[in-house]
Amino acid sequence: MPVAQLNSDGSLAHLLTLDGLPAAAVHDLFTLADFYAAGSDSRPLRGRLLVNIFFESSTRTRTAFEAAAKQLGADVVNLDQIRMAGTTKSESLQDTVRTVCAMGTAGIVLRHGEDGAAQQAADAADGQAVVINGGDGCHAHPTQGLADAYTLLRHFGDALPTLAVAIIGDVLRSRVARSDLHILRTLGVRDIRLAGPPQLCPSALAGSLGAPVLHDIDEALAGADVAILLRIQNERLAALRDEFALSPADYLTRYGLTEARQARMKPAAVIMHPGPINRGVEIADRVADSRQSLILQQVRNGMAIRKAVLTELIADADEQRR
Ligand code: CP
Repeated sequence: MPVAQLNSDGSLAHLLTLDGLPAAAVHDLFTLADFYAAGSDSRPLRGRLLVNIFFESSTRTRTAFEAAAKQLGADVVNLDQIRMAGTTKSESLQDTVRTVCAMGTAGIVLRHGEDGAAQQAADAADGQAVVINGGDGCHAHPTQGLADAYTLLRHFGDALPTLAVAIIGDVLRSRVARSDLHILRTLGVRDIRLAGPPQLCPSALAGSLGAPVLHDIDEALAGADVAILLRIQNERLAALRDEFALSPADYLTRYGLTEARQARMKPAAVIMHPGPINRGVEIADRVADSRQSLILQQVRNGMAIRKAVLTELIADADEQRR
């Protein structure tokens, strides 16, 4: 039986997915994030050990967790592909998790290429350490989803549920798209459109993700308050070029957020991207750096969110706001 993400009292035991995470738990995390965003220098993780286990590369997630944990007083160890026996000596994910648990680890942040890897890690931890999903396959990236929703809530306030949100790009393989969808729905957003080329955003997603799928980006952006662009991976671009003669420049013209498209959006609309961004592919250079872009605000808020998640999961209740 897989371990549950929530304890019987509704508190978080692990953070594996935003699918089904109650609104109350989300708002508790946002309240803690406000506390940190306001500049708290509280160190509730003093004496605790966090291990970042990253089977895939990461700039934002790993650095934010490392910096956040250190600022909260924790010791941090980073395990990556080069240092892990799992890569070079075939040690399983489960044995890697059990090994770091035996070292007295309080928390594990895991990034892995396989859907469900975070659940497997939580099962292997067997109550000895909390597991935070730093992105598993195409399944979930909960702290990115939390950072994105927190950014929108702080920007638009109570108007959040009335927003029209377009999620554009490689939706098929995007764990961020799924986590954004889950949390925005939990917070009451109803108008969420998915868009991209049929190869990356097939019509069948409308059924599995429960949101309309559009292949015309102008249609997806019509009346949108928020455009969330997703990264197009190099290998997908190569396939589009080889199979459909679609160059990166063609991609931007047909499916990306160009300056012309941005100019047709609502004046108060905002542009988001979880990063890393491919300038000149899914988003034009100047759009990424424009005043409507919240891309760096997502990163700043990601720090407060990671501190909130670490505090909620690892700090003792009586130490949470000391
Ligand atoms: N958004 C995100 O997950 O970025 P990294 O891959 O750099 O962590």
